[in-house]
Amino acid sequence: MEPLLFSAIELRGLRLRNRVVVSPMLSYSATGGHANDEHLAHYARFATGGAGLVFLEATKIDPRGCSTARDLGLWKDEFVEPLARIAALVKRSGAAVGIQLSHSGRKARRSLPWEGNEPLAGCPGVDHGEPWELVGPSAVAHSPKYETPRELAPAEIDELIERWGQAAERAQRAGFDAIEIQGGHGYLVHQFLSPVANRRRDEYGGPLENRMRFALDVVRRIRRSWPREKPLFFRMSVVDDAGWTLDDSVVLARTLKEAGVDVIDCSSGGMLDAVRGGPPIGYGYQVEYARRIRELADVRTMAVGLIVHGDQAETIVREGSADLVALGREFLHNPNWPLDAAQKMGVAGAFGLAPARVGFWLEKRARVRGVRPSTWGRGIDGDEGAPREPAGEPGAKRP
Ligand SMILES: Cc1cc2nc3c(=O)[nH]c(=O)nc-3n(C[C@H](O)[C@H](O)[C@H](O)COP(=O)(O)O)c2cc1C
Repeated sequence: MEPLLFSAIELRGLRLRNRVVVSPMLSYSATGGHANDEHLAHYARFATGGAGLVFLEATKIDPRGCSTARDLGLWKDEFVEPLARIAALVKRSGAAVGIQLSHSGRKARRSLPWEGNEPLAGCPGVDHGEPWELVGPSAVAHSPKYETPRELAPAEIDELIERWGQAAERAQRAGFDAIEIQGGHGYLVHQFLSPVANRRRDEYGGPLENRMRFALDVVRRIRRSWPREKPLFFRMSVVDDAGWTLDDSVVLARTLKEAGVDVIDCSSGGMLDAVRGGPPIGYGYQVEYARRIRELADVRTMAVGLIVHGDQAETIVREGSADLVALGREFLHNPNWPLDAAQKMGVAGAFGLAPARVGFWLEKRARVRGVRPSTWGRGIDGDEGAPREPAGEPGAKRP
C-alpha cells in the first residue's frame, strides 16, 4: 500500500504533492526586514528535498512586531521582490510555498537566541530608525524578563488589522501559495486570546467571544485580499501555560473555519516563561492536539512537534490524527527528509521528489549498489532479492 504521507492533497485550489510541510522557522538572517541570498539558499534546500509545502518563517506585518532585528518583514512594498525570488525558486522545484505572517506584540525587541534572547535597551529601530515600541492588548509584561508593552488604542487595533491585510496582498504579489497566521506561542494574536495578557474592557477584551475578535478580524481582513482559491492556515497554541484550554481552541477553530481558515496548525504553550503546560516535550508530543481539534472542530489539522520518522508521520495521517505533518528541526538536520523517508518507505518514484538534476543520479546510485529503492537505508547489504544491476546502467553516463 502506498503511504498516505506521500499522496497528494488539495487545499482549495492548491495541490500539494505530499503531506510533509516545512514548519515556519525564524532564520534570523534578514537586515531591516529584507530577505537576501541566505534565505534563498536556506529555503531552496527544503524544496529540493521533496517537501510538499515549504513555509517561510514568521514574517512581520509591522516593524514593531519584530522579535529580533534580524526578522523578515512584509510591512513595505520593497520587501516583495526578494521574497518573490524565493517563492519562485521553491515552486520551480516542485513544492508549494507558504509564508507565516506574525507580530510579536509584547514579546518583540529581543536579542538573537544565541545572544541570550535579552531585551534590547531603548528603541533602537528595526527599520531605518522607525520607533520599535512594544505594544500589546494591555500593559502587562510577558514575564519579569520582559518589558511592559503599551496598550494599543482602538484606532491602532484597526490600523494593525489593516496591516495584516496589506501584508497578505504583498504575499499574493510575491507569488505565495499559502499564508499561515501565527496565532500561538504567546505572540500578538495569542496575547489577545489570553485573559492573562488581555485585560481590556472594550469589545476586544473580557469574554472569550471578545478575546477572539482580533484573531477573527485578522482572518476576515486577510481573506478580503487573499484569493479564494488559496488556503489560509492558522497556528494556535491548542493549550497554553496560562489557562487556555482545548475547549477554548475547539470554539476558536470552529469560528475560524467559518471565517475562511482551512487548516489549524496545532502547537502549544508560549504564553508564560515559567511553565509550558501540556504534556512533556517528547516524540510527537502535540499530535494529540491535532487529533482532537480535527475531530471536535471538524477542520483539517496539521500536527507538529518532534515528528522525526517517516513511519511515525505516516501513522499520524493514516490514523486520521492530522491531514498534514509539519517538521521543524528535522528539516534543519536533513533538508532531504521527505526524499529519504520516501525511499525508506518504498514509495514508487521517490526520486522524482528531487529535481531531475539530483533525482536522476540518486536513482542510478541506488540501483548500482544493488539495493532496491524500497529498501534503501534499511541495511547496508539489504539486497535480498534485489535485481543486480551492472554498474554503469545503459544510458546512464557516469559523471
Ligand atoms: C530555529 C527555530 C525557529 C522557529 N521559528 C518559528 C517561527 O518563525 N514561527 C513559528 O510558528 N514557530 C517557529 N518555530 C517552531 C517550529 O515551527 C516548530 O513548531 C517546533 O520547532 C516544533 O517542531 P520540531 O520538533 O519538528 O522542531 C521555530 C523553531 C525553531 C527550532
